[in-house]
Amino acid sequence: MRHTATYRPRLGGRALSDAQAADLAVDCTSMVDGFATLGPRHLRARQARRRQEQALAGLIIDVRTTPEADSTGSALEAVAWHRDLDGNLLDPRTAAVELLNIIRPTVAIAWFATFAAHALHRWPQHRDLLRADTAGSYAEAFAHEVRRFYPFAPFVAGLTAQDLTWHGEHLPKDALVLLDLYGQNHDPALWEDPYRFDPRRFAGPEGPQDPLDNLIPQGGGDPARGHRCPGEDITVTALAVIATELARLDYDVPDQDLGIPLSRVPTLPRSGFELHLR
Ligand code: HEM
Repeated sequence: MRHTATYRPRLGGRALSDAQAADLAVDCTSMVDGFATLGPRHLRARQARRRQEQALAGLIIDVRTTPEADSTGSALEAVAWHRDLDGNLLDPRTAAVELLNIIRPTVAIAWFATFAAHALHRWPQHRDLLRADTAGSYAEAFAHEVRRFYPFAPFVAGLTAQDLTWHGEHLPKDALVLLDLYGQNHDPALWEDPYRFDPRRFAGPEGPQDPLDNLIPQGGGDPARGHRCPGEDITVTALAVIATELARLDYDVPDQDLGIPLSRVPTLPRSGFELHLR
């Protein structure tokens, strides 16, 4: 998506130079793009991670030595001043890793934003529904449907911690188990007509007709007790706002290749999604 605007880049209330902001954006994009692959994309992701861990460690030191009022309440501030069980501040490198664990997945929402633009282009009837949605409930339903319909992480993997039997299947300790996120999000036993893009499955006066429990684009189970993504609410809120803004913008979509290859992880339309503001 191409969009130009004048803004002063900030991180946790601190001004970043344009170059710092651009490096952070490019590096986070490389990290998300290379999270599930070997080869050059993976190598770029590793280099980007190293570069940003170093840069953010410097920022953590900066926050500790020259506190600024605007940073209060930010993730940067929370991580910089977090104390471990012995009452010690985290060493700057560890703090940088933790901070990056918040910034990097937030950048990943851009993938869903691109899919939201794709959906609005393919099924433009949702534009008016989003524009008319003052309560935000349709926008939230739209965000859920984007996360269900479009592929991001195809599966999550884990090793069994002990011998166990699950649904009659014996699994020895240390067996590799995959949870098929894309498969479950398109399982016809759980979703009526799963390849139809329809946010109304998550809307309606009586709540969603398709239970949110079945929706696992960011992992399954309870985030408080397992590894399900704790950033789901942030993702849904950001995506709902972005989708509504996209629906309000006037733009043209030039000819491009909007096919989405399922063999790429994480995937995107082949041409990205280019739009020209009117
Ligand atoms: C495009 C948006 C996102 C997607 C597709 C996504 C997906 C995922 C997935 C698949 C997992 C692993 C779940 C599992 O192993 O069962 C995960 C874990 C995690 N996510 Fe997200 N996520 C997104 C956004 C976010 C955001 C915005 C944040 C925080 C600001 C976040 C923070 C985390 C953290 C900290 C974990 C590790 C949880 C743990 O291991 O206990 N994610 N995410």
